Amino acid sequence: MAKLKIVKIGDDVLRKVSRPVDTITPRILTLLDDMAETMRAADGCGLAAPQVGVLRRVVVIETEPGQLIELINPKIIAFSGKQEEAEGCLSIPGKSGITTRPMHVTVRALNRKGETFDITGSGLLARAFCHELDHLDGKLFIDKAKDIETR
Ligand code: NI
Repeated sequence: MAKLKIVKIGDDVLRKVSRPVDTITPRILTLLDDMAETMRAADGCGLAAPQVGVLRRVVVIETEPGQLIELINPKIIAFSGKQEEAEGCLSIPGKSGITTRPMHVTVRALNRKGETFDITGSGLLARAFCHELDHLDGKLFIDKAKDIETR
């Protein structure tokens, strides 16, 4: 595994739409491994492939230590409720802002074996699903946050 460089705000790659993964190649598996290592090293709870300069629909999330969630071609298939919490991003260091997100989110994705699965998260995990999936469409939390603060 290798730690990758995290792309920071101002780089165009963060504003691009990522392409779906057609075939899960060894390269995609390595990307997943490297993204998990990079996220953990940066003390983050989520990372999307564009944040390491790769425009593919691949996300890793770990809101509970040791419970890594790998998502390939993820889509939100259901959501409900509402939460307003502070949010930040590894690509926008030192900033946080309040966003409104659904309280419960269900995502459908492929796992690393190419199998479709559904996963539902609430609270922080629901927020992470929304935040990381937004990255795949070139959207950042600062687009919708209010009261953006510099920490
Ligand atoms: Ni982010």
